[in-house]
Amino acid sequence: MKKKVISVMLAATMVAAMAVGCGSSGGDDATSDQPAGDEQTEEPSGDEQTEEPEGDEQTEEPTEGDDAAAGGDLADKKVGVCIYQFSDNFMTLFRTELENYLVEQGFSKDNITIADGANDQATQSGQIDSFIADGVDVLIINPVNSSSAETITDKVVDAGIPLVYINREPEEAEEKRWEDNGWDVTYVGCDARQSGTFQGELIADLGMDKVDLNGDGKIQYIMVQGDPENIDAQYRTEFSVKALADAGLEVEELDNQVGNWQQDQAQQIVANALGQHGNDIEVVFCNNDAMALGALQAIESAGRTVGTDIFLVGVDALSEALENVISGKMTGTVFNDHFAQSHSAADAAIKFVKGEKNDYYIGCDYVKVTADNAQEVLDMVK
Ligand code: GAL
Repeated sequence: MKKKVISVMLAATMVAAMAVGCGSSGGDDATSDQPAGDEQTEEPSGDEQTEEPEGDEQTEEPTEGDDAAAGGDLADKKVGVCIYQFSDNFMTLFRTELENYLVEQGFSKDNITIADGANDQATQSGQIDSFIADGVDVLIINPVNSSSAETITDKVVDAGIPLVYINREPEEAEEKRWEDNGWDVTYVGCDARQSGTFQGELIADLGMDKVDLNGDGKIQYIMVQGDPENIDAQYRTEFSVKALADAGLEVEELDNQVGNWQQDQAQQIVANALGQHGNDIEVVFCNNDAMALGALQAIESAGRTVGTDIFLVGVDALSEALENVISGKMTGTVFNDHFAQSHSAADAAIKFVKGEKNDYYIGCDYVKVTADNAQEVLDMVK
């Protein structure tokens, strides 16, 4: 309930539309805890026995007749979850909330297995094979490489297992294939264009006079990108800058580097950029908060002060980033609603298990976060 109440408060105070759930799925009244580590995350029983599924015997499509049995007792159903990399802060929030919510909905914790892809597609593919061999009732997959989605979909669909993709959106043509074939496959996530736009607006809203510290009529920025194969990284990079241009502000890119969503890599990138460009850098755009935290370390080490002589924005609304927004050490961030996304993913999985259909794309809204609403968002995520 906590989240719902605070969502209403946020909606009242924010320019952006508040996400109270993704797309057609609701279910957002669970409480939320901070990630509790990796204790729930046994690997599926090894990657060694990766036989291809032989036919569909254990995996026929659920029919109307199965509905009552499946819906009646989720506790007996097995869920396989593949996460691209456990060490990713945001995906840790996501998977923790996902597991808690699945248990609240009636699944047994013992029947939920969450696998760490360790940022390696071959490792993750082996885990998917193991889940198929194990006869799970539904798979929730955060692919290491979105470009592997076609192969993943084919093997999971062949095995007759419904599939919910999360966080890393497969290409449009791939999503269309699910629809054209009527497969039980869907994607749950937010549109990263919106998060990029919000990042740009966080800067544009400050006004040219404030941001154009050297008074040359242009905003000089550096961009720290997440994994470049990831559509979130591509769109945030493009749309943050586009929002500045759309606001009529002239921009100049001084540097653009890949930090792979990682704090330490971003720290190094920003330290180097500050060394090279010094006071010319007015804005640091980071595709996520983990990298913004690294950027902040580099900014402080260089003796610069966010809000006074440089501006810094991220995405995700990690607790530490929100605290920095409140204290002025970050200009702003964008809330990547892991509650709504994980709940919608679980709701979609439940519908599939019950033999019901889902939309092929289940969307979700981001929320712009400034010092004005950061405390409210922090109260919600803590
Ligand atoms: C993004 C998130 C990043 C990272 C990435 C992984 O949505 O903002 O922090 O978790 O997903 O795919």
